[in-house]
Amino acid sequence: MQTIIVTGSAGLIGSEAARFFHQQGFRVLGIDNDMRAYFFGEGASTKWNQHRLEKELLNYKHYVADIRNHAAIEKIFAEYNTSIAAVIHTAAQPSHDWAAKEPFTDFGVNATGTLNMLEATRQYCPGAVFIFTSTNKVYGDTPNFLPLVEKETRWEIDEQHPFYEFGIDETMSIDNSKHSLFGASKAAADIMVQEYGKYFGMNTGIFRGGCLTGPAHSGAELHGFLAYLILCTVNNKPYRIFGYKGKQVRDNIHSKDLISAFWEFFIAPRQGEVYNIGGSRFANISMLEAITMIEEICGQKLDYTILDEARSGDHIWYISDVRKFQQHYPNWNYEYDMRKTIEEMIRTAMNK
Ligand SMILES: NC(=O)c1ccc[n+]([C@@H]2O[C@H](COP(=O)([O-])OP(=O)(O)OC[C@H]3O[C@@H](n4cnc5c(N)ncnc54)[C@H](O)[C@@H]3O)[C@@H](O)[C@H]2O)c1
Repeated sequence: MQTIIVTGSAGLIGSEAARFFHQQGFRVLGIDNDMRAYFFGEGASTKWNQHRLEKELLNYKHYVADIRNHAAIEKIFAEYNTSIAAVIHTAAQPSHDWAAKEPFTDFGVNATGTLNMLEATRQYCPGAVFIFTSTNKVYGDTPNFLPLVEKETRWEIDEQHPFYEFGIDETMSIDNSKHSLFGASKAAADIMVQEYGKYFGMNTGIFRGGCLTGPAHSGAELHGFLAYLILCTVNNKPYRIFGYKGKQVRDNIHSKDLISAFWEFFIAPRQGEVYNIGGSRFANISMLEAITMIEEICGQKLDYTILDEARSGDHIWYISDVRKFQQHYPNWNYEYDMRKTIEEMIRTAMNK
């Protein structure tokens, strides 16, 4: 039986990947030490999701291992060896703000942890496909210097700008901008994954995500904005918006649509290829627009305040141009627009 290793398997993207590949008939080994609870508190723990996977998936095996622990990772790879067909690496410290609290931890998880996974793949299963969830934060705050125009409910970029119609593509420089320590540690990992593709010829794919979202997200104030927004609305908890008048725009891709992109890459991998991936022009929303939509669907008002100060380096407007991926993988398309994603997340939050 072929094996898929998923790091961060109890998290939003990892759990969706584990379920999907299991359904395709693979044995899935999940690696997750619930570090999300350490980052954001018990409320953000992903243990519930780990237990669900263990209960529901027959050929799923969970390892409470830390990706920073080279020896522990190597042991798992040594046991399954060349049966490993793919490594889907989603474990991370995912927040800008948190990274500044413990730079060593952030870099250890995001950069060194990724190197551990790459090197174990090279040593034990060099033919495997390696999929890495990078982030649009590798572009730092460069998107904030696009010609922005303030509209009633959102920021937009000037209609004459080449990124207006389809969003930001992979030609944007990742150099010479403010990334936050998180953006910098992810950029280090992103380049390392490219290098294992280009230097060693391995099948590595780098997916620079906009906002990744879905009902399996354990939303916290510092990460997972849509999940946390819905959580606060449903549970009558106050919500704080950090700066930009609440008009900051994010493109959102449902975890299922992202995993179907991973599947396309898995079937026909390339070496060290970088893709911007997100909701694109198809699914994007500002904070204020998201609140209006959630309030309307829930029939409940959210108690929110807009703070003057934005998060350092946070994007004002970001929409991914996904045409490079679509060109390489024309079979891939979206299933979830903004409304469908939000409706599904609200249903899940109400039943929790
Ligand atoms: N969610 C987003 O909006 C978004 C946007 C862009 C990129 N990404 C990237 O996508 C990936 C997945 O994001 P997500 O939203 O699913 O995150 P998540 O926090 O839901 O899942 C990550 C999982 O990794 C685990 N983990 C963290 N450190 C670990 C360690 N040292 N060892 C083992 N497990 C560890 C956590 O416990 C958690 O369950 C991350 O790499 C993130 O940087 C996410």
